[in-house]
Amino acid sequence: MEIIKKVLQSNKQWAEKVALQEPEFFKDLAKVQNPEILWIGCSDSRVPADRITGTLPGEIFVHRNIANLVIHTDVNFLSVLDYAVRHLHVKHVIVCGHYGCGGVGAALSNHNVDLVLNMWLRQIKDVYMLYEQELDGIKDETLKARRLVELNVVEQVKHLAKTSIIQRAWKHEQIPHLHGWVYGLEDGKINPIYEMHPGEPLDPIYQYDDI
Ligand code: CO
Repeated sequence: MEIIKKVLQSNKQWAEKVALQEPEFFKDLAKVQNPEILWIGCSDSRVPADRITGTLPGEIFVHRNIANLVIHTDVNFLSVLDYAVRHLHVKHVIVCGHYGCGGVGAALSNHNVDLVLNMWLRQIKDVYMLYEQELDGIKDETLKARRLVELNVVEQVKHLAKTSIIQRAWKHEQIPHLHGWVYGLEDGKINPIYEMHPGEPLDPIYQYDDI
């Protein structure tokens, strides 16, 4: 229970400090949120979206799951995306992976992690297959995992563009811009590796022409 006490105690200290420094902070934030960014990140405790970007409460709308996956049948994720794009009108959607991702590492291995996790990580194995030739050519296991982290982010950004949610916003509002980033646990730095912008062509089979 020590950790729980500690967390509640530091929350109290934080709230008091903020209220002292900026008396209107909570009152203003309680009225409305107007974030310009939707962040899709890994659940990994070492990659907190606001902390590593120096953003404040109210600035980033967040969805996190294991290995930052964009799954077109994931109702939880789609609800977040729909709300962020259609109601909050975010200007940017960022998929941020991280080097040293345990989810990607597990997907690279042949280890059975049982039922639900196998099912979730299967999507990363599918990413591997898309880039099989390149990845098979990387003999160093650490480098291979790093490259798969990057390619996984690229594919998740492409998955975003395949949704009717993004395509509708691109067509009618010319936003959001899509970004694929990878965060380095070792140095705390973000490596931007991929972007897609409104109007960018997609593989035709994914393109909705009547939205
Ligand atoms: Co991770």
